[in-house]
Amino acid sequence: MSLLIKNGQIITATDQYVADILCEGESITAIGRNLTAPSGAEVIDATGKYVFPGFIDPHVHIYLPFMGTFSKDDYDSGSRAALVGGTTTLIEMCCPSRQEEPLEGFNLWLSKAEGISACDYTFHMAVSRFDPSAEEQLRQIVKRGIASFKIFLAYKGAFGIDDNELYNTLRLAKELGVIVTAHCENAELVSAMQQRLVGEGKTGPEWHEPSRPVRVEAEGVHHLMTFAEMTGAHVYVVHTSNDDAISAAAAARKRGVHVWIETVAPYLVLDETYAQKPNFEGAKYVMSPPLRSKRHQDVIWNALASRMVSTIATDHAPFDFKGQKEMGRGDFTKIPNGIPSVEDRINLVYTYGVKRGRIDLNTFVDACSTQAAKLFGLFPRKGTIALGSDADLVVYDPNYRGRISQKTQQMNVDYSAFEGWEIEGRPSLVTVRSSVMARDGKFVGKLGHGKLLKREPSHF
Ligand code: URP
Ligand code: ZN
Ligand code: ZN
Repeated sequence: MSLLIKNGQIITATDQYVADILCEGESITAIGRNLTAPSGAEVIDATGKYVFPGFIDPHVHIYLPFMGTFSKDDYDSGSRAALVGGTTTLIEMCCPSRQEEPLEGFNLWLSKAEGISACDYTFHMAVSRFDPSAEEQLRQIVKRGIASFKIFLAYKGAFGIDDNELYNTLRLAKELGVIVTAHCENAELVSAMQQRLVGEGKTGPEWHEPSRPVRVEAEGVHHLMTFAEMTGAHVYVVHTSNDDAISAAAAARKRGVHVWIETVAPYLVLDETYAQKPNFEGAKYVMSPPLRSKRHQDVIWNALASRMVSTIATDHAPFDFKGQKEMGRGDFTKIPNGIPSVEDRINLVYTYGVKRGRIDLNTFVDACSTQAAKLFGLFPRKGTIALGSDADLVVYDPNYRGRISQKTQQMNVDYSAFEGWEIEGRPSLVTVRSSVMARDGKFVGKLGHGKLLKREPSHF
């Protein structure tokens, strides 16, 4: 199979130039001007379009048993949605509960993707319990090509771990050269605040944010920073929503802590007023950490522009409004947390970030692809356009104009958090290892094309 993409504006994290790209087998085999197509090659005219490296979403939930229900997507709808939206690699949180064995959990999550996913994928392995048996199983999982862990300082009683487990997880990660991704919110404070608010009759979705305010997240980050400093582990703060949390990580970085910061698309374009919508509509916008006031959006965009924040993920976690979000009518603590956005991330960040002058094209590629590849052991196979890299490419049409709608989305969920929003660009062609997977908003690939990406620890 070969493909020649002609005359596109190639954008990487560092460069911008016009050239042709030849894809043969699964890789990029030539980049230059006036390349000739081998016989049988499909030729794509990308004049006036951008060519980006395939985007990587380093934080998604496809299979997620959570808060008494299950997230709605599977790898059929989830990978189709990712590809139509320009994401060619998913890194899913593999989240067995405290009661489950890590290896059984890993095999279960793998079985949900294998033979079904249309895009490439790997996992961050959650450590929901740390004891000698869990440790042994984690060592085996790392040997199977999983070079990152996930921990939750929130969700007491479900995925959350205590400080002793936190310390031991970071020590193991340091020993193995594995980076630890972390959900940072102080679980005790969240549960105390929830009880107080519900007790006062404050039960609507608008009370979700006050139950886990900015300070609760910043405290979680500060807490993780202390443990990272004591152990020397490399850590990555997921879904950072606000100025104070970023400042806590930045202060630690200044004193030598190895920390990287992720934000997610919903925080960049939505604010707390969405969760305050009347008639329980706000439940569609309940995620943790919560949407914040507008001021924090500006801070996050600026932190991306200065590359203080490394990555933009989604934390895609789809729950229907009907029947699932509704479980929390009368008690916001029972609303399944999550906002679906794996399909929309690239178009949202391009439209409301690049086009509005918040970040430039190189930063866009860096935050949505290259940094995730570098941090999680996928670079230069993924995350760039270079000879020998996987031919994962997004030909992007900046002249497209359209609107987001639940009616046309691939995601298997009954609403869109961005219903009717205008987008000013979209992928016109998306490839995974040279195979064309999406064209102009339609999935045209094969389910099962996706591969598990095995990753080596870093030995830092
Ligand atoms: O609200 C969220 N973020 N739901 C998914 C689980 C998590 O914390 O990442
Ligand atoms: Zn989380
Ligand atoms: Zn998550």
